[in-house]
Amino acid sequence: MCSMRTEIMLFWVVNMIRVISPATSANLGPGFDVIAVALERPEDSMEFCEIDEGIEIEVKGYSVPVSPEKNIAGIVANKMLGDFKIERGVRISLNKGIRPMSGLGSSAASSTGTVIGISELFGISMNRDKLLEYSLIGEKATSGSFHADNISACLLGGLTIALSEPLKAFRFDVASSIDYVAVLPDVEVNTREARKILPKKITLRKYSSNLARACLLVRALEEGDFKKLNIAYEDNLITPLRSKLVPFYYELKREALSTGAEAFFISGSGPATLSLLNREKVDARDLAEHLKSFYLNKGIEAEIYWGKIGEGTRVT
Ligand code: HSE
Repeated sequence: MCSMRTEIMLFWVVNMIRVISPATSANLGPGFDVIAVALERPEDSMEFCEIDEGIEIEVKGYSVPVSPEKNIAGIVANKMLGDFKIERGVRISLNKGIRPMSGLGSSAASSTGTVIGISELFGISMNRDKLLEYSLIGEKATSGSFHADNISACLLGGLTIALSEPLKAFRFDVASSIDYVAVLPDVEVNTREARKILPKKITLRKYSSNLARACLLVRALEEGDFKKLNIAYEDNLITPLRSKLVPFYYELKREALSTGAEAFFISGSGPATLSLLNREKVDARDLAEHLKSFYLNKGIEAEIYWGKIGEGTRVT
């Protein structure tokens, strides 16, 4: 909650900013560290209130540190207040709807949400590249790496292509016929650890095979072309190594594809998976429930989310 001043004196309400920050799914098979989509659900919501000094954090929902030095929102806020010489403080109330270590862009949501919240609260004007640069600070603090895929989709919504050098992101629309199903089994995967198992070298043949699929994937998603999508989503570089981080990955994939999914991937570094489907043929909720039952039959609890490719972080 905001300060008493803000609650009682309505004309001070401008000192509070509320932000919604969506979950995202990165890589989408061959697009490692480059391609990502924003998801309609789940999401984080955050409130930012100006206070006299310091950074205070309160957390609801999934558990994350409340200490500003350890909380991603605190780290990003601290950097912004310092860099832009803001001689005021901020209280951040974070309702964490995206489970950390899920592969659904939890750290990107906290980070990007904070960049938007702090810039709105204190009237800091930043172009898209600067918003990305500051969002990356929180992502780097969590994963130890500079991947900009999740933050790009979180900031811009839709389907995004992220470049690391120079840091830039581009948004594309996904055909309205495409729905997603995200299945999150009750295990945790730390992105930092999941990056340690990545290959150090790849063959030119594998590189060009993945590159071709990544290009085709973007066109397939824009056009809603399921024939293209069916051949574009396979990844020969990262998925074979990371599949062991997702319980029953190959069985789940078979189940999803045989129940109507047109594409199936590890979401980010897992353990969540993402299925894409043709909403005119398959009911996303049915597929989600089916995959949840698959896990329950294996003795594993799972959360499920479904919907359309969503919008980016927004002030509400
Ligand atoms: N591209 C990143 C990775 C996303 O796969 O490590 C992490 O969510």
